[in-house]
Amino acid sequence: MSKDMNNNIILIGFMGCGKSSLGVRLSYRLRWPLTDTDKMIERRNRMTVSEIFGRYGEEAFRQMETQCLERLLGRKDPQVIAVGGGLPLREANRELLGKLGTVVYLRVKAETVCVRLAGDTTRPLLSGDRPEEKVRSLMRERSGIYESIADIIVDTDDRNIDDIADEVLELRAAGN
Ligand code: S3P
Repeated sequence: MSKDMNNNIILIGFMGCGKSSLGVRLSYRLRWPLTDTDKMIERRNRMTVSEIFGRYGEEAFRQMETQCLERLLGRKDPQVIAVGGGLPLREANRELLGKLGTVVYLRVKAETVCVRLAGDTTRPLLSGDRPEEKVRSLMRERSGIYESIADIIVDTDDRNIDDIADEVLELRAAGN
């Protein structure tokens, strides 16, 4: 299936970059449904992401993410899709994302993530000691991957959601 056949907007980026919040705003402005892969997986399994990591492990969760994308490829109407921060790590997922539509990378600084996610208990990869170090090290590993598949890159630090939504919609309309 070629990219022309899939008009979706897919939001990628590190945990805490604002994918879910921007997803809600874009969905409202475009009148398109919003799908969040984490929520899809939680609903299907009737478990939280942390419980899935705890019981089945990260690899099983990544497999579930791939299945989500395959299911989404079968949907015809355009939608806004927010994906988990680690989903683009798998090459198979990067290919599927490319087929699904316009990939928007929400770039964020590690400091911003640390402030936003201070006290968060829902991200298993940041649980335990020294979450700041984990953020920095994961971000180092991932930034290049996010950039490599992005059709649009938007910086999100110190900006409000409407401002970011405006930029995404303008860049998309301009064919970026
Ligand atoms: C993860 C990000 C999370 C969730 C899981 C793993 C990651 O989603 O999928 O905890 O590997 O970065 P958010 O990016 O929505 O926090």
